[in-house]
Amino acid sequence: MKIIMLGAPGAGKGTQAKKIAEKYHIPHISTGDIFRANIKNGTELGKQAKTYMDQGLLVPDELTVNLVIDRVQKEDCANGYVLDGFPRTIPQAEALTKALEGLGEKLDYAIDVDVPDENIVNRMSGRRACVSCGATYHVVYAAPKVEGICDTCGAELILRDDDKPETVQKRLGVYHEQTQPLIDYYTKAGILKSVDGTRNLEEVFKSIVEILGE
Ligand code: AP5
Ligand code: MG
Repeated sequence: MKIIMLGAPGAGKGTQAKKIAEKYHIPHISTGDIFRANIKNGTELGKQAKTYMDQGLLVPDELTVNLVIDRVQKEDCANGYVLDGFPRTIPQAEALTKALEGLGEKLDYAIDVDVPDENIVNRMSGRRACVSCGATYHVVYAAPKVEGICDTCGAELILRDDDKPETVQKRLGVYHEQTQPLIDYYTKAGILKSVDGTRNLEEVFKSIVEILGE
């Protein structure tokens, strides 16, 4: 099962993608997580990506497309994958479609987690991310067992650099301009499924399972 997650920053793509990956035993591939891991490890890619991410801008397609196309051809992707945060521009979507065609493959579902802008800033200011394993929490809606500590690995939880309210506003603008056109692109491709992302995380997941099947 090959799935992509669409939705505004903070809509819950990462939260739902992790649950999908666990239930259907497929890898969760998040370009945001890949870039953040590169920043943490001080790689050249990380240094380049950081200058864009800190401003709430997209990392250029040249740095992003090949990374994902290579990743989805790894052995662990043989039974599918859930892509989170890619594609997010029309050229990225076209490059993915073309690469998959070349492999004789295609996407099965594009799941749009629909959340209006009003709800987003609130979610982002409460998000906390693990510095070590990347697990995501929310101080109110998905709190860790011990405040400030990751349930999974025990490392510290922090507010992401790009979750400051002014950067979130910028990311929302970029989303509407560059990523939202993908809703049309995947509607035309006949694989778009929309879920109401304003409900609690279990209810959102239930709707996704209804789409993907038990
Ligand atoms: P990325 O990491 O992909 O960020 P994003 O798209 O802005 O999305 P987020 O990760 O912020 O939100 P999410 O939808 O995953 O929400 P989450 O589940 O955490 O990208 C970061 C940057 O990297 C980009 O700005 C760009 O610079 C660069 N980049 C990445 N991919 C790129 C690409 N393809 N091309 C170019 N540049 C790229 O949930 C948010 C919060 O809400 C959490 O605290 C969560 O606990 C909570 N929450 C989730 N669901 C619910 C719910 N139903 N109810 C209540 N709270 C909820
Ligand atoms: Mg995410």
